Amino acid sequence: MSVLPRSIRTITLKGQRLFLRVDFNVPVKDGVVRDDTRVNEALPTIRYAMEQGARVILASHLGKANGSPDPKYTLSPVAKKLSERLGVPVAFAPDCVGPAAEKAVAALIDGQVLLLENVRFHAGEEANDASFAKSLAALADVYVNDAFGTAHRAHASTAGMASLFAADRRGIGFLMEKELSALSKVLTDIDHPFAAILGGAKILGKIAALEALAERADTVLIGGGMANHFVAALGLGVGKSLLEPEGVPIARKVIDQCKERKVNLVLPSDFMVAPSLERASEAVAVAMDAIPGDQAAFDIGPKTLEMFERMIAPARTVFWNGPMGVFETKPFGAGTLRVARILASSGAFTVVGGGESVEAVNEAGLAQKISHVSTGGGASLDYISGKKLPGVEALLS
Ligand code: 3PG
Repeated sequence: MSVLPRSIRTITLKGQRLFLRVDFNVPVKDGVVRDDTRVNEALPTIRYAMEQGARVILASHLGKANGSPDPKYTLSPVAKKLSERLGVPVAFAPDCVGPAAEKAVAALIDGQVLLLENVRFHAGEEANDASFAKSLAALADVYVNDAFGTAHRAHASTAGMASLFAADRRGIGFLMEKELSALSKVLTDIDHPFAAILGGAKILGKIAALEALAERADTVLIGGGMANHFVAALGLGVGKSLLEPEGVPIARKVIDQCKERKVNLVLPSDFMVAPSLERASEAVAVAMDAIPGDQAAFDIGPKTLEMFERMIAPARTVFWNGPMGVFETKPFGAGTLRVARILASSGAFTVVGGGESVEAVNEAGLAQKISHVSTGGGASLDYISGKKLPGVEALLS
């Protein structure tokens, strides 16, 4: 594994105001947290800091709040959820900087926890503005970043403020350590054969990951809307299936790259198609070279799943990102759920990253059977693509 920033274990926390950046970007509906995975994953670091006697100041973003307060994206439901999980009251400050935040921090005693309001309620967060970073840093004596899911963003609370703390007063938490160590096993310390499964609707956001995996994996399996681009790149029709025209030459390039590097590129041999999502009950399986012009592919087919199972069987390491079909619409979640089961029973070192593939693993009750379920979608893809994560780099410089 590459050099890691200082661990929270080596930082003096007793009586210190600790600014702990977490990723509490969780789904909230009607004021209730719908999936608390990210809150639960942050607990070991928060508990440790409390036990050590730190005054814990938690900060996070939630949603795409555009630089100004938006009640839709308040973190207050998350404070409630966290308090339930910790079994102690969690104070909530209605702003992350300024008098409200300062007052809430001043009221903390050793071992207590405070959650600041959404950092993205200020434009300075995403702009990585130096004076906003300074205002955040002024609240604390120590800075720890445990927000792996946001480590690919160079924002004020994830990167900018790190340089405002002395080297022995800044570092990473247990979740960040766990993520980086597990993901390094699909980046540098790979136990081959290595199979990578990529899906999801869009190909454009995953070009770097595709290219990196085509360099490193022994087998690359493609599903989801991304597969349509490969079908089109082979000169075959995709009917009404989702297609980003700019994605087709990318798929072509990946096909050539895999051929050149002797990587086994596995495309679906059949798809589940229907005239539209509304007419999902009419779904049938068709061969990949026979998608009718008036139908769209919404999932990979049964023959593909058998083939995927055979191809994954010899792997000692498997990485999976992105659903195999329109997971949320029945029966098109079948491919994604089956891939989750294949991974769970593979016996390989398995890593799953990305919202819907993680959801599938959870829905199938298989999370315990996966070696590492990442809390980061974009962050895990960037990391395995070999890109530097600003949230980590800022702590190393
Ligand atoms: C995520 O959910 O992927 C992270 O919290 C990052 O969120 P963002 O894509 O809004 O920056």
